[in-house]
Amino acid sequence: MEILKIVGGTKLKGEVSISGAKNAALPILFASILSEEPSIIKNIPLLADINTTLKVLDALGLKTFFKLEDHAIEIDGSELASIEAPYELVRTMRASVLVLGPLLARQGEAKVSLPGGCAIGARPVDFHLSALEKMGAEFKIESGYIHGVAKNGLKGAVMPLPFPSVGATENALMAAVLAEGVSEIQNAACEPEIVDLANALRSMGADISGEGSPTIRITGVKKLKGMRHSVAPDRVEAATFLCAGLITQGCVTVQGINESYLSSALDVLKEMGGKISSTENSVTAEYLTPLHSVNIETSPFPGFPTDMQAQFMALMTQANGSSQIKETIFENRFMHVPELIRLGARIKIHGNEAMVEGPLPLSGAIVMATDLRASASLIIAGLAAKGETVIRRIYHLDRGYEQIEKKLQGLGAQISRELEK
Ligand code: EPZ
Repeated sequence: MEILKIVGGTKLKGEVSISGAKNAALPILFASILSEEPSIIKNIPLLADINTTLKVLDALGLKTFFKLEDHAIEIDGSELASIEAPYELVRTMRASVLVLGPLLARQGEAKVSLPGGCAIGARPVDFHLSALEKMGAEFKIESGYIHGVAKNGLKGAVMPLPFPSVGATENALMAAVLAEGVSEIQNAACEPEIVDLANALRSMGADISGEGSPTIRITGVKKLKGMRHSVAPDRVEAATFLCAGLITQGCVTVQGINESYLSSALDVLKEMGGKISSTENSVTAEYLTPLHSVNIETSPFPGFPTDMQAQFMALMTQANGSSQIKETIFENRFMHVPELIRLGARIKIHGNEAMVEGPLPLSGAIVMATDLRASASLIIAGLAAKGETVIRRIYHLDRGYEQIEKKLQGLGAQISRELEK
């Protein structure tokens, strides 16, 4: 098993380029199922979850060619040999449930293993199924699989979501683009990844309006062309590096992203005392004075993103005063807390709220990654801890960060990836 070794204390300085967004690339890759013509998708991040997505597409019979050098993927969607996303792939990546909408739209049938829970919560898919049922799909759950059929094809419908679920919005959107008639997704998620998916679908000839707002309107078309799209930048990766810059009292510029992707996170960094500046295509966070505590509550976009909660908690351990974090999206997203405490943090949890005392000196220790964003939180804390921190189970990290240790080395961090002895 691989581990990350970090010797803390170096001020991070410099520029780092941001990769394509994992949470945009995954639905966009699944959207290629909607066309029999070849698709070309650029700015794909090199991540474990991307590899898993390509395995799912291969299992369905699509041919995929990853052109590593320019982070591009070509997909030949002419052959659809199967309508089943198998358990062994879905259990490693629950986002595979996003094949439901495209398969029902193209083939009128889909079989996907129930994703099962994950470390951060039960993560049911009931909102996905009820939206697709509005368009005429019928589902049966048997032996751990969701089996969906749309005998007479999908029909446009009004789909009110009980919660602005990102995945349910994406499945409904990808189904509606080929449904017969007009659809409306109400209480839709407004995340930038939804906007990116809509742009990718529009490059195929889809008729969509309102993406990025709570109401998305789609007029179904008969056929879609192959996709031509370049994936938007990863706002969660960008925020991770900005937190690393501030916790090490340095100055970090994230290249290839506009501040509009990061607005609520930048508001919090400014409130903590970070000096934030930006250009059209970059954002800089500079440490000028000791940080002060702040209270945050995660909520759907444009609120504070749950995917940035763990990283900001690490930063708060070095802020003056006590900071409060309320996690409203997932029921178990504080697993980084015991590990941060091993590094010397003082954090108390009451239900879905965490109280972080600061500033407290952190000292290196062996810690364990429990999920993707918790891993990033431990790296950020390790960069500020005195001495050596070893992070185990970094396979969680590799799902969502492209070569993070190389990017951090480029900013001056003393970090290396090694094999556990
Ligand atoms: C997406 O997950 C992201 N993953 C998550 O990022 C992100 O945390 C989440 O959106 C919220 O922003 C991808 O895009 C691949 P939801 P998703 O449906 O779509 C409940 C990361 O670290 N819910 O918006 O699964 C659900 O349990 C990952 O990159 C239902 O109850 O999130 C959760 O409490 C982690 N029924 C809440 O809604 C449903 O049918 C939000 O889930 C669907 C969701």
